[in-house]
Amino acid sequence: MTTAHAPAKVILFGEHAVVYGRPAIAVPVMQVRACAVVEDGPPGQGMVIHAADLHLRHRVGAPIPVQSPAYPLEATVRNALQRLGIRGLPDLTLAISSTVPMASGMGSGAAVATAIVRALAQHLGQVLSPREVSELVYQTEVIHHGTPSGIDNTVIAFEQPVFFVKGEPIETLHVGRPFRVVIGDTGVHSPTRDVVGDVRRAWQAEPEKYEALFDRIGAVAVRARKAMEDGRGSTLGKLMDENQELLQAVGVSSPQLEKLIHAARAAGAMGAKLCGAGRGGNMIALVAHQRAQAVAAAVHQAGAVHVIVTEVGPWLP
Ligand code: MEV
Repeated sequence: MTTAHAPAKVILFGEHAVVYGRPAIAVPVMQVRACAVVEDGPPGQGMVIHAADLHLRHRVGAPIPVQSPAYPLEATVRNALQRLGIRGLPDLTLAISSTVPMASGMGSGAAVATAIVRALAQHLGQVLSPREVSELVYQTEVIHHGTPSGIDNTVIAFEQPVFFVKGEPIETLHVGRPFRVVIGDTGVHSPTRDVVGDVRRAWQAEPEKYEALFDRIGAVAVRARKAMEDGRGSTLGKLMDENQELLQAVGVSSPQLEKLIHAARAAGAMGAKLCGAGRGGNMIALVAHQRAQAVAAAVHQAGAVHVIVTEVGPWLP
């Protein structure tokens, strides 16, 4: 039996603009994670995927509609087996579970796919580098999201803070001083594919307006990188607020997100913004160590269904 895990992620700066080639910063979140367990057999059954949380049991190769949650799972398995040079379907049972909230901007699809790829590779006695895992998971992200930037699979497969620019070599990020964040979940499901599609349509209708917004978001990410490396928390907080204003202008915030963001700021957060695709899902607030519990309580009271307090960095690049 082989077990593998993968963390969730949050985007600290640059979501949406990153799809259009601007830089973004994302960090792994270790408190919540996906888990994949691979076991041999039973003989002659081929490969079976079991996801108890989703009430799903699927035999790989059985017909499935594209909309089924089994579809990206099967695609991940097939791509991984192909990459590992396995012909045909081995007799294996793959059990998947996850504590990463779904459709909430924390990379649940990429976390599950990463856990699957890692578990299969380990079980079959092979080693894949983080880059190879990331490339495989990107293929699953295309199924989930249509036109992903690749930031989710990268930060999750590398398990390091990343400064990410689509199509460019991966840059892990050194965090000068650890900082604390509160992540609050609106409980509103918001599939990334839908929000990214809406932004694309808006960009097509008004390219100049959106290009200018994306430029400004990218510039915030560049300044944030320096602030993170230098360990300047108050600057980072201000940059988060600036990023949030720009995301509002892009049209991806929501009343529920705003409510949690305002509650966090009122309780003493240094800055706050939505994280991920927006319209629902999670927000993130930067907090001084001693304010963390008060901000978490305020976010909870403002309606968050789930609150995580976590620390970012320092990691060595
Ligand atoms: C989703 O986690 C982040 C987006 O920027 C989409 C992407 O980068 O693929 C909204």
